[in-house]
Amino acid sequence: MLEQIKSLQKEIASTLPANAGELEAFRLRFLSRKGLIPTLFDNLKLLAPAEKKDIGRPLNELKQLAESRLKEWTEALGAVKDNTQAPVDLTLPVIPDAIGTMHPLNLTRYRIIEIFERLGFNVADGPEIEDDWHNFSALNFPENHPAREMQDTFFVSRNPDVLLRTHTSNVQIRLMEKQRPPIRAIMPGRVYRNEAISARAHCFFHQVEGLYVDTNVSFADLKQTLYHFAKEMFGSETKIRLRPSFFPFTEPSAEIDISCFICHGKGCNICKQTGWVEIAGSGMVHPNVLRHVGIDPEAFTGFAFGMGIERVTMLRYGIDDLRLFSENDVRFLKQFKPVL
Ligand code: PHE
Repeated sequence: MLEQIKSLQKEIASTLPANAGELEAFRLRFLSRKGLIPTLFDNLKLLAPAEKKDIGRPLNELKQLAESRLKEWTEALGAVKDNTQAPVDLTLPVIPDAIGTMHPLNLTRYRIIEIFERLGFNVADGPEIEDDWHNFSALNFPENHPAREMQDTFFVSRNPDVLLRTHTSNVQIRLMEKQRPPIRAIMPGRVYRNEAISARAHCFFHQVEGLYVDTNVSFADLKQTLYHFAKEMFGSETKIRLRPSFFPFTEPSAEIDISCFICHGKGCNICKQTGWVEIAGSGMVHPNVLRHVGIDPEAFTGFAFGMGIERVTMLRYGIDDLRLFSENDVRFLKQFKPVL
């Protein structure tokens, strides 16, 4: 038996398990319940007391050797395994997070807000799902006025009518219902019209509504305010032109054109060879509208305008297809600066 113990000792000393599988084979061979060393202990019990003394001690040493090797190797293999996990090198430069870019429509919206805020305009907003009163009736659209059909409205329900607002003019009404003049506000937002989608039309787009109601607000104020805006937005050389128009909620009404800042009036694709580009509808707030919200048209007057954010953005960046704004193509979107 002593011989066997010695040979096992040699075997253990010369064993070096290379992986977890070999380590487990070692444990099974020497230390498991049916392994060599426990079997030797079983045999030990059968020996005469004198022999037990001679064998017991080397057998215990053998067991301790096997156990300490098992422990050592388990730790060593564990450490190797840990090394294969992500090594941390604190001196490496950081992996930068991708910083998004601002949507071009937002860049334009913020610029518009900035310009009007300096003139003392507040920013207001209102619901996109609107009732008939705020989108049409309070704005002086008669019951069967063709303008209601003209607007190609998306109805959510009929009688009473609930619809997706066709313009931001609903916010004029909501604001004047809860606020008394002086009122100076701009109201950016999304609007909806039932139109076939193309490069020039979409079923939703964005507007900025403007409203100024106070004593003695005149058409000259409207003109000067929009002239100032055009120069701030498109450059100090920019001129504006007002063309007579019609909206039920303004009287008189005018379309605002700006001089084409691409060709400076010579004629190009952007201005369709006219030298002028339309950017907004506008006019003096109709007395009926003021009456509908309980403001005395004898005491107060006001002007309003509605501008297309897409239109301004297309002019600003030379974008020729409306659909680009809502396609979410990063090749398009990442061309715009993240901040103003
Ligand atoms: N709401 C009009 C439109 O959508 C624009 C407008 C606003 C015109 C305010 C006059 C005054 O076309």
